[in-house]
Amino acid sequence: MYKNISNCTSLVVIMSCNRLLRLSTSVQNLLRADIQGLGSWQCRIRKILPTVTGRRYKHGVPDSLSCSWLMHDKHLELKFNDVVMRLDYVWLRDHCRSASCYNPKTNQRSLDTAQVDLAIKPAKIRSDNDAIYITWPDNHMTKYALSWLAKYSFEGQVQIVQPRILWNAAVYKEAEMPYVTYNSVMESDEELKKFLETFLLYGIAFIDEAPASVEATETVALRVGLIRESIFGRMWDFTSDFSRGDTAYTKVALDRHVDTTYFQEPCGVQLFHCLRHDGTGGRTLLQDGFNAAENVRNENPHHFEVLTKVPIKHEFIENIGGCHNHMIGIGPVLNVYPWNNELYLLRYNNYDRTIISTVPHDVVHQWYVAHRALTTELRKAENEIWVKLKPGKVLFVDNWRVLHGRDAFTGYRRLCGCYLMRDDVLNTARFLGIKI
Ligand SMILES: [Fe+2]
Repeated sequence: MYKNISNCTSLVVIMSCNRLLRLSTSVQNLLRADIQGLGSWQCRIRKILPTVTGRRYKHGVPDSLSCSWLMHDKHLELKFNDVVMRLDYVWLRDHCRSASCYNPKTNQRSLDTAQVDLAIKPAKIRSDNDAIYITWPDNHMTKYALSWLAKYSFEGQVQIVQPRILWNAAVYKEAEMPYVTYNSVMESDEELKKFLETFLLYGIAFIDEAPASVEATETVALRVGLIRESIFGRMWDFTSDFSRGDTAYTKVALDRHVDTTYFQEPCGVQLFHCLRHDGTGGRTLLQDGFNAAENVRNENPHHFEVLTKVPIKHEFIENIGGCHNHMIGIGPVLNVYPWNNELYLLRYNNYDRTIISTVPHDVVHQWYVAHRALTTELRKAENEIWVKLKPGKVLFVDNWRVLHGRDAFTGYRRLCGCYLMRDDVLNTARFLGIKI
């Protein structure tokens, strides 16, 4: 499917188009009753005009040449630039941006939504070329820029939340990842932006030539976002001494997984920095879980849907030395936004998945079949990349998307890292001008 990476942009576009198609279908299904008979806007206007009073039907022309509208019982049907928007009256009143309803300095709502009559209807509507003006029954007037409505209405949501380049081994090999160094990221916002753009598109990215120390790893982590402290501490730094009750603290191979599935919100981003390894083995396995999940969706949408619906519990129980922890997280393996079916979180960890008691036997069997389909996809060699981490090379992994694992190894191996708050990494990206 992904023959080369020279068309990264078109891959993103392809993803967008597929999702848009699904979104469009979803919208059409939801609104089928309204859409049926709509056919031609102009035809409908002609049909309605003779039978509807002026109080009930309004048309933007001649006030505005750029928009026209129909008032329904509970919503306004607004046509602007060939897009038909359906705007609930309560939504419109709730989104008034007048000085008494909204504070532009804090970007916060001042209006008490609970005071809005749920049966509210505009008393009067007029428009010009740029905006529509609604006077409410209490004479409060709201101005909505047409471009604002086009951007924020449900029908205007044409963008996916996060553009991504899905990858398998071949795609990743051909991708031209920028070489970013510790010093350049620390000194230059442009270099940090370049790094973050790569990270957000692929779900993994490296910062090279870092000092091989926990302190430097923490410093560069804080350049990207805020550290998420957990039961494993702020910065973790370990060897294979089995000091904690987790297989990661041994020398055995680790199958692909994402971390902290036993948190209600798994950690968003993880850093790995191998500070020293005197021995053999220990390569790191990385793979794009969303690419595998999308392959399952294309092959068998029912399997995909089952994995998005069945809640699965993950659990971490530790009683070693002074560490006594019991963590539980519940959620489906695949998490999608309900409005556009876009994947945003993968919760896959066969080590930490605990007893399934959330669904009856027939559903649980469907889940096992669907889970097997995803696992089969994940275990295809063509979807794996293997990298040898070494001192100076800091790996950032999107723990909501990219799975990691490792070879067994021999000798002394010291690894450090931390988790980052996902929101804060995205916050850094937005501050640098990345649209996300
Ligand atoms: Fe892990």
